[in-house]
Amino acid sequence: MSTETGPAIDAEPRSHRIAPGPKGLPFLGNLPQFGKNPLAFFERLRSHGDMVGWRFGPNSCVYIADPDCIGELLTETERSFDQPALGIAFRTVMGNGVVVARGTDWRRKRSLVQPSVRPKQVRSYAATMASSAVELADTWSDGERVDVKREMAALTQRIAVRTIFGVDTAADAEAMGRAMDVAQREIGKEFAGVGALLPDWVPTPGRARIKRAAAVIDAEVGRVVARHRDSGDERPDLLSRLLAAVDETGAHLTDREIRDETVTLYIGGHETTSSTLVWAWYLLSRNPRVRTVLAGELDRVLGDREPEFDDYARLTYTQSVIKETLRLYPTIWLVTGVAKEGARIGGVPMPEGTRVWTSQWVTQRDARWFPEPEEFRPERWDPETGDDIAEYAWFPFGGGPRVCLGTRFAMVEAVLILAVLARRFELDVDPGVIGPVPSLTLQPDRDVLATVRAR
Ligand code: HEM
Repeated sequence: MSTETGPAIDAEPRSHRIAPGPKGLPFLGNLPQFGKNPLAFFERLRSHGDMVGWRFGPNSCVYIADPDCIGELLTETERSFDQPALGIAFRTVMGNGVVVARGTDWRRKRSLVQPSVRPKQVRSYAATMASSAVELADTWSDGERVDVKREMAALTQRIAVRTIFGVDTAADAEAMGRAMDVAQREIGKEFAGVGALLPDWVPTPGRARIKRAAAVIDAEVGRVVARHRDSGDERPDLLSRLLAAVDETGAHLTDREIRDETVTLYIGGHETTSSTLVWAWYLLSRNPRVRTVLAGELDRVLGDREPEFDDYARLTYTQSVIKETLRLYPTIWLVTGVAKEGARIGGVPMPEGTRVWTSQWVTQRDARWFPEPEEFRPERWDPETGDDIAEYAWFPFGGGPRVCLGTRFAMVEAVLILAVLARRFELDVDPGVIGPVPSLTLQPDRDVLATVRAR
């Protein structure tokens, strides 16, 4: 794999120009096509070239599909590109946390949050990840029918509540979980639709729902934070690490900032990981060969014991299954930036204000970067015998200064959960093709129902 050295395929620098995209409507531009099916629309843009002009309402946009250009967009974020302001649904729920914050405020927040998700800290969350998965495995039995989306969402939600807030009572988890679910749904609708274009003052039923959900979240998180402060105990949860964090002036995060960061980590981390696992079960069910190889690794590395943090590094094929799942079904499917003065991509000037878009969905399924792109083949990730994969042809966690803060957390969590469950069970997902629906994350377009088979 040539992720360190850059593209191995087609190593000549590619020259670029902005090709015209599909025709749009007056004023609306290509908005209706985007709104109807963003993934299909991005695929269509790609068929026009690697750098394509289009219009999102009145805004001039450029779509890029080439890994070198994607790398430039990601690594130049903050310097040459701003992230576009997020819609009211995001802001109502995540406040001014690290996802919403921009410029110097973002830099301060990121440096305060980062230490709580460092690899060393993730090691301390791993036991909770594995034991929560074991609790679920203990409830499954041979022949049982399960709703995979619901099971995975409940599991990652339990892990998020335990590792972030350090609480474990059903009452805490339930009220917070329900409000977070509503919030996530509304953010998803706004993110994938045109809701963000409405001015903030326009009342909509979705906006009313999100306000009510945010009020519940405020109250619940407020209660947990107060309990943590009062107890004064050193605890191994993310919240305690955030309460202890100080910026370069020695200042702690305020209660409001603590609320915003914990909710941001929860929203950023829970559905992304649970959707990845749902897609992994779907792909494993459709690819018996891969399922057999995975089971072989789990038997070899774990035998009849449960996994722990140190097994993560040994479970290389399990890691590849998750990477390959994230290639085919990237739960975050869209990255955008707004050009600042003087911005360029692939040598092409991007006028100030141009919105540049790219999609993991399109580039990660491009045959130029991934031979037989539709095939679920974890072997392509083998460090010794795998494919040469161009840098930024795979970017499910983004890249550059705004790269996902939870990359390590998510990989360890997904690998340990899969290891616990797939060591004991196979899931036979009901027949039929399941398609993706782009919401805040890439969701299956129907319930994913499966029969549990004990191994
Ligand atoms: C499979 C799971 C995950 C995927 C695919 C994923 C993907 C991403 C992507 C693509 C971004 C960058 C978005 C952009 O450039 O606009 C991002 C940012 C972020 N992610 Fe994740 N993520 C995952 C799990 C997590 C987890 C578990 C956490 C927390 C524990 C987390 C916390 C964050 C935060 C805080 C940011 C914002 C970073 C910043 O703006 O500085 N993510 N994630």
